[in-house]
Amino acid sequence: MDDLKINKRLIMTPGPVSVDPRVSQAMSNSILGQFDYEFVGIMNETMELIRQSFLTNNQWSFPIDGTSRAGLEAVISSVVKPGDDVLIPIIGRFGYLFTELVTRAGGIVHNIQKPMGEVFEQSEIIAALDEIKPKVLAIVHGETSTGRLQPIDKIGRACKERGILSVVDAVATYQGMVIPVDEWELDAVVGGAQKCLSIPSGITPITFNERFSEAINRRKRVELGIRSDEVVEQEPFIRSNYLDLTQLQDYWSPKRLNHHTESTTSIYALNTGLKLALKEGIEARAQRHAFHQTGLKAALKALGLEIYGDEENEMKMVICIKIPNGVDDATFREGLLKHYGIEIAGSFGDLQGKIWRIGIMGYAVEKQNILTFLSVFSLYLAQQGVPNLEPEKALTTLLQHYATQD
Ligand SMILES: Cc1ncc(COP(=O)(O)O)c(C=O)c1O
Repeated sequence: MDDLKINKRLIMTPGPVSVDPRVSQAMSNSILGQFDYEFVGIMNETMELIRQSFLTNNQWSFPIDGTSRAGLEAVISSVVKPGDDVLIPIIGRFGYLFTELVTRAGGIVHNIQKPMGEVFEQSEIIAALDEIKPKVLAIVHGETSTGRLQPIDKIGRACKERGILSVVDAVATYQGMVIPVDEWELDAVVGGAQKCLSIPSGITPITFNERFSEAINRRKRVELGIRSDEVVEQEPFIRSNYLDLTQLQDYWSPKRLNHHTESTTSIYALNTGLKLALKEGIEARAQRHAFHQTGLKAALKALGLEIYGDEENEMKMVICIKIPNGVDDATFREGLLKHYGIEIAGSFGDLQGKIWRIGIMGYAVEKQNILTFLSVFSLYLAQQGVPNLEPEKALTTLLQHYATQD
């Protein structure tokens, strides 16, 4: 049988994206035992790096083994018990994911909704908090399905003042912009791996504060077989075992109470990815994403394409464009991938077949990649017979943008 051979790609989707070779290299190190003092040192260092990445002093900053939705599910299933009210604003697909997770946890969902492509004023969300008085607010920061950024800087404090717990899906925005968790007074925040942090999916950094910790610990149940003292749950216990944050607290603290077997290679990847991100600087990284997004968006407009959604609230790590009339979404994307090794994404639900999503995320976001993408994408699109496209003007626009930096 032949060895696995992976062809070269330029991934321009909202994740997964290319990985820095230094991350891949770190992953090829020898496996360590999960209680090996060297590995414990790496775990402790990784927790500190996660704290720095979220700009928080939260002790409880550790990774969940699993993709980002495992992080979201860990937070939701640990805090939401049957009958708890949860407010979930919806601006796209991932608001529905929260809705799904809360429903499965037995919570009572209260949705407020905006038309696709728009976001909420924070005052609208705060008014809903006052009306519904939920136990938890679960909100998506960067809604990748529509490319919109939901402002949340006032939401954490508003929740705190009302005794409500705030839970944030920052999967797509994490390490692509500054998310000061403590300054924004957010209770629990879930980041992402395979997006702006640019490491392989399968591990999810999260952080939560003492307020949140107290709430979940009222539902704590230590599993049979490793219990040492009497554990009496004050509230119905957390139903999930694998995603039980209270047991994970015991694992990711000096107690080191055995839970799952930590994925050594994922921790190597996370540790290295975070060091690279923090070395670049969170602010500088945010500026890099925004700089390339501005240039590419201007170039796509110059090409003759229409940008989708309310631009005032766009994410800097995803550009959404309307698919030109007469072009078949899936056929075009497949051709771009097969002939040129370039991948872009479609969208979901009502937006499927209507918009393309171009990811500007992490390691691959640099001048040569963006220029290559634009050149190939423009010409391939023109080849499909789309009228009035101006590939040369698009390229000139992007080159001029980069000239401002050179
Ligand atoms: C905003 C948002 N939340 C959650 C997820 C789910 O992440 P994962 O696929 O890593 O489980 C995604 C993935 O695209 C996302 O963009």
